[in-house]
Amino acid sequence: MKNIHITEEGSSTMAPVKQDRFASGVGFKFLTKHYDYLINNFFNVDEIIDRFIGQIDVRPGMKLLDVGCGTGNLLISLHSRIPGVQLFGIDIDPEMISISRNKMDLAGLNGSVKLIQSSADVLPFEPESLDRVVSSLALHHLPAETRRKHLKRSFEILKPGGSLHVMDWGKPVSLLQHVGATFEILTDGYSCFSDSLRGKIPERIAEAGFVEIQEYNTRNETFGTLHFYSALKPV
Ligand SMILES: C[S@@+](CC[C@H](N)C(=O)[O-])C[C@H]1O[C@@H](n2cnc3c(N)ncnc32)[C@H](O)[C@@H]1O
Repeated sequence: MKNIHITEEGSSTMAPVKQDRFASGVGFKFLTKHYDYLINNFFNVDEIIDRFIGQIDVRPGMKLLDVGCGTGNLLISLHSRIPGVQLFGIDIDPEMISISRNKMDLAGLNGSVKLIQSSADVLPFEPESLDRVVSSLALHHLPAETRRKHLKRSFEILKPGGSLHVMDWGKPVSLLQHVGATFEILTDGYSCFSDSLRGKIPERIAEAGFVEIQEYNTRNETFGTLHFYSALKPV
């Protein structure tokens, strides 16, 4: 693959993934196979993805990485809506990668999206090789130090002028949203959720070197408020 070196799983340059040590999609490993069923019952996934894609400004010929891609919903939508984008997805959970791969095969994507099992703080890409790095509902699954390394690594692998796009939970504002936040803290751990809870994500993005951090209108969901951010790697 031109300009991009993707480290194959298990090669010497990739730290072994500790599979017992990550915050899984819906808090409990046994629920992972039901991820799509659960999110489709709690959220209007298509509407949320629509809105997020509208902020990403991705064009044919670009290279985009979705970190913590889960079951691949965002990548599948991007593939059908904006042809000609080179798409990559990373997730630490082999079960998520496998669900995602099966969905893409069924949708006839024929391996055109490259899926990699890796941790968000590793991101096995060459420096300055990607146009967009995006993540949806993944930052609050990363412990503080992993999140810091992930943002720094995202900065390194983006081309100058490339952009980062994040959708994640923010401060809870209603009783039910506090219930949602408590569930996240109990299942993922406080270290994972603390920056989202305290509205510190923009600060963390800035610490990684990004500029022009933009926050879009939030979207209220029953169990949390969705926040959307974009940021640039300076030219
Ligand atoms: C709530 S799910 C979001 C999935 C998808 N992006 C979406 O919006 O539906 C969080 C995802 O982050 C992944 N994840 C957790 N820790 C990770 C890590 N250290 N590196 C990469 N992915 C991770 C989980 O496996 C899960 O698929």
